Amino acid sequence: MEPGSRVEQQARRRRSAVLGLLAVLCSSLLLNALLLAHHFVLSPTPRLLRDDGGSSCGLSWSLPAAREAEAVAAVDCSGHGQAFLDGVAGEGGRPGCECNACFAGPDCSLRTPNCTADADRGDPLFLEPYWRRHAVAGAVVISGWHRMSYVFPPDGAFQSAELERHIRRLHRAVGNAVVDDKHLVFGASSTHLINALVHALSPDAGAATASPPARVVATAPYYPKYRIQTRMLDGREYEWSGTTARWANVSGNYSTDGGFIEFVTSPNNPDGLLTKPVLAGSAAAIFDHAYYWPHFTHIPAPADEDVMMFTMSKPSGHAGSRLGWALIRDEKVANKASEYVHDSVLGMSRDTQLRMLGIVKAMMANLHGEDDIFAFGHDVMRTRWRGPAGSRCRRSLPSTAPTSSGSENRPQLMHG
Ligand SMILES: Cc1ncc(COP(=O)(O)O)c(C=O)c1O
Repeated sequence: MEPGSRVEQQARRRRSAVLGLLAVLCSSLLLNALLLAHHFVLSPTPRLLRDDGGSSCGLSWSLPAAREAEAVAAVDCSGHGQAFLDGVAGEGGRPGCECNACFAGPDCSLRTPNCTADADRGDPLFLEPYWRRHAVAGAVVISGWHRMSYVFPPDGAFQSAELERHIRRLHRAVGNAVVDDKHLVFGASSTHLINALVHALSPDAGAATASPPARVVATAPYYPKYRIQTRMLDGREYEWSGTTARWANVSGNYSTDGGFIEFVTSPNNPDGLLTKPVLAGSAAAIFDHAYYWPHFTHIPAPADEDVMMFTMSKPSGHAGSRLGWALIRDEKVANKASEYVHDSVLGMSRDTQLRMLGIVKAMMANLHGEDDIFAFGHDVMRTRWRGPAGSRCRRSLPSTAPTSSGSENRPQLMHG
């Protein structure tokens, strides 16, 4: 054989060896790509919930809890109830359905005959479908060691600075309150803040020159908890003194003995009216703006009073979480309210503060967008008001003229 053709033959052999190697490499790459695609895309079980020894996507301890939460949330209650993680365990050790009023049975499919609606009190459950729709944004994971301490480090605070910042952002974005020159004090609901604020505005019972107790009043029809709460703790600092009507006509003299603290609820519960203080002069006002959110009322201007009370129960519907807050202009009044919260409950549940942070963030993310919670809430309320239940309510309104006894015996148009 010619030396030249031997060289050519060797070169040909080398070329085909290289080609063979390339073919093996390509098919190996292709196979790997197919396996990965199957793993990530075509796999029937979502990867996060796959039991792969507890290391899916870097998640470990939260997986079983997430799986349990989703399994309970998926229990079918016929659209007339739902199962909760902390519900009473039924057959199979799983919590069963908790049925809405007028429904019964293991899956809430049985309508209770002759069931009547209780219009005297309500729950903000009309927002539940919104949070089901935003299940991802509204979910919060709480570890077993989440904020076990009594205080937030480093300065021993008992309220979350981050939650406070987000609540201020929410007010600014909604335009329903001026927050920049106010102190923000959390309470375990606004019901809890009723006494905190009355205490903060009352004369100091321990002062050298004792003043008579402040008179706490409200205009009828009013939210009855003002009276109930004030009576529970009244004493040397303050006392429940009925409705403003009783004092407004006392020849202007009411300002001479001890002063007044007037609850002004705007929009009012139960009649929904935007209201103003009735007493003036020495009366300090606590503005309860629980319903001053766009799904309940129009917002003519951001509220800017000295002492204002808000609650998470109404804007997001999370009444069960018990978070309220006060916006207070004067530092001394804010400190006194803050001391009350500290001395009565050592601050709000840290679990609630974390959960509400997630909820406020979710509300903000959709604000003014297609899925704005206030637009959703407004649509639901409007539909109900225009429906059969609403027209019955409207017909009954003229027969509920204001009385001086408070509002607990009249139908409430709103919740609570
Ligand atoms: C006018 C008004 N203020 C305050 C509250 C109490 O709200 P929460 O205790 O849930 O913060 C209610 C509840 O219905 C209410 O109607």
